[in-house]
Amino acid sequence: MMMLLFGPPGVGKGTQAELLSQKFHFIKFSMGDILRDEVARATPLGREAETYMKKGTLVPDTLIFRIVEAYVKEHQSESILFDGFPRTVQQAVTLEKTLQIHKKNIDLAIEMAIDDEIIVRRLVNRRYCPSCRAIYNLLSTPPRQPGICDHCSSPLAQRADDNEGTIRQRLNTYLAETQPLTEYYRTRNKYCRVDADGTQDHVFEEITHCLNAHRK
Ligand code: AP5
Repeated sequence: MMMLLFGPPGVGKGTQAELLSQKFHFIKFSMGDILRDEVARATPLGREAETYMKKGTLVPDTLIFRIVEAYVKEHQSESILFDGFPRTVQQAVTLEKTLQIHKKNIDLAIEMAIDDEIIVRRLVNRRYCPSCRAIYNLLSTPPRQPGICDHCSSPLAQRADDNEGTIRQRLNTYLAETQPLTEYYRTRNKYCRVDADGTQDHVFEEITHCLNAHRK
């Protein structure tokens, strides 16, 4: 099965992608994590992508498609959960074409929705582990020991784009570029929307409900 999660920054895509991959044995494709890894390793792709990520705008498609095509080719026989890709209708069309080469298609696109002000509050309080990628929130899911990862004891970090100015730019980018995916997947009968303003467990239940309803 091929599934994707989309929604504004901070809605909880990464958190839910982790839970879904554990329960339903998807392999998780996180475009944001892949790009941040390229930035951290200062690769040519990472250096170019960093300029856009810092501003809160989208990284150019030429770089994005290179990553996706290589990934799909390598994992074509597995169930993939896409998080943070596609982010435009053009990217959705390209994903479809890439999957078709391997006789696959997107089965379900889940949109996670929430109020902008909740997003800002969540993101300025987000911390993550650069080693094992665990995600925390200082308000809702703080680490047991301040600043230290519960899983691997590495020091936690804050993302460079998790400041209020960049968060608001990311929200604008989402509205202008990514929101049209709702219509794109709705008209193809592959769409489900969940309210992401609940506990992580509650949101997970809603997504599981969508998934099961779609499989029938
Ligand atoms: P990316 O890394 O994909 O960022 P994003 O879409 O802005 O989403 P986030 O990772 O910020 O949030 P999330 O929805 O995963 O939330 P999370 O689970 O962490 O992309 C970053 C940048 O890369 C983009 O701006 C762009 O420049 C570039 N890029 C990426 N993909 C691209 C593409 N396809 N094309 C071009 N450019 C691309 O949760 C957030 C916080 O809330 C956490 O602290 C978490 O603990 C907490 N939380 C989660 N769920 C709940 C809950 N139910 N209740 C309370 N708190 C919760």
